[in-house]
Amino acid sequence: MDRELTSFLLCAFVFFITATSQQDNVCSRPELFDNIEMDGIQRYFNPGEELVLSCKQGYTPLSGPRNIVCAARGQWTKTKLKCLPKLCPYPDVLSNGALEYEDTTYQSVINYTCHEGYIMTGASSAVCQANGTWSSPVPECTAVSCGPAPIPEYGMIIYDRRIRGSSTDYGVTGTYRCLPPYVVTGNPRTKCTASGTWTAMPTCRVVTCPPPKNIDNGFVSSDEDREYDFMEAVKYGCHGHYVLEGSMQVVCQENGEWSEKPSCKAPCSVDIARGRILYNEKKVWIEDFNPNRVLHRETVSVYCKDTVRSCGYAVPTQCIDGNITIPPCFKEPSAVNYTLKSGSLPSEIQAC
Ligand SMILES: *[C@@H]1O[C@H](CO)[C@@H](O)[C@H](O)[C@H]1NC(C)=O
Ligand SMILES: *[C@@H]1O[C@H](CO)[C@@H](O)[C@H](O)[C@H]1NC(C)=O
Ligand SMILES: *[C@@H]1O[C@H](CO)[C@@H](O)[C@H](O)[C@H]1NC(C)=O
Ligand SMILES: *[C@@H]1O[C@H](CO)[C@@H](O)[C@H](O)[C@H]1NC(C)=O
Repeated sequence: MDRELTSFLLCAFVFFITATSQQDNVCSRPELFDNIEMDGIQRYFNPGEELVLSCKQGYTPLSGPRNIVCAARGQWTKTKLKCLPKLCPYPDVLSNGALEYEDTTYQSVINYTCHEGYIMTGASSAVCQANGTWSSPVPECTAVSCGPAPIPEYGMIIYDRRIRGSSTDYGVTGTYRCLPPYVVTGNPRTKCTASGTWTAMPTCRVVTCPPPKNIDNGFVSSDEDREYDFMEAVKYGCHGHYVLEGSMQVVCQENGEWSEKPSCKAPCSVDIARGRILYNEKKVWIEDFNPNRVLHRETVSVYCKDTVRSCGYAVPTQCIDGNITIPPCFKEPSAVNYTLKSGSLPSEIQAC
């Protein structure tokens, strides 16, 4: 009943003021900015009426006066009140983590993150509250721990740095080894990951290679028909005047295969009927070159003639696996010239 009456009276009063405001210079409720507020819901004020302003929640008054007065002509006096947002204290540093914020004023937000490999305990963000305190304390970042790495049967792990007790933190790395003749199968490297687990563990396996195969024109030091262990080695050799190319020793590798086998390369014969050659720094007539044999990779020279300057010069050529190419500048002399005019052959005349 009372409220209805009040409302009625208020309405009547408001009507009265509105109707008469032009003449009576009443003040209407002031528009307030900059986080300034006032109490009550009164909409019209008589001249001379005084209002007390205050700062909104979370803001602190900086300078007064806080009162304004409804002056003549329906104007309020000016206010010099300033409301500044409340300040929260600067946040503490977060060890093993980072914090991000733009300000420490009322309603500012701090975001917390932990470095990789650290887990957060507490709230990941805090807001500066109206009373100048943060909504939650600085969280903690604790290192992820993987515990000791698992060890495969017949194997071991060698950590890259000293481990205190069994606390193997994020980022610790190590290498697996297997006790011979076992061999690491899989990735020998391991790491404590950010999720607190170790990367996949390899296994230790026995590795064998099949009996080594012989090579053409050669032999193998051991032709036992058995499986060979990892790291076991055999040697290869070549028959006769064949030359071994590649590594003499072949090893059973981790993948169960032998390392690359060498091969035996054939010797060459110098395929000319008449002429003089240069071999091992000696000039030899071909019929005296006995046996006519040049080993793989050896060089031999034949003589060619510079017809313009009328002189002779040696041209080297190399034996490659039974194949020697006689340089095209070499001209084989006729049998008559070879026997009767041997002094005019490129090998005998003045050297260029
Ligand atoms: C805090 O995180 C929120 C949500 O990810 C983001 O919107 C805001 O910009 C961040 N604030 C700062 C200061 O980094
Ligand atoms: C600050 O305000 C928050 C939220 O209203 C409240 O939980 C906290 O107790 C207050 N702290 C102080 C010191 O008044
Ligand atoms: C010998 O050399 C020639 C010419 O370079 C070549 O055409 C031929 O294939 C080679 N023969 C062998 C068995 O290497
Ligand atoms: C034999 O020698 C003469 C001069 O020394 C030369 O003109 C002629 O071409 C040679 N003949 C052959 C087949 O080499």
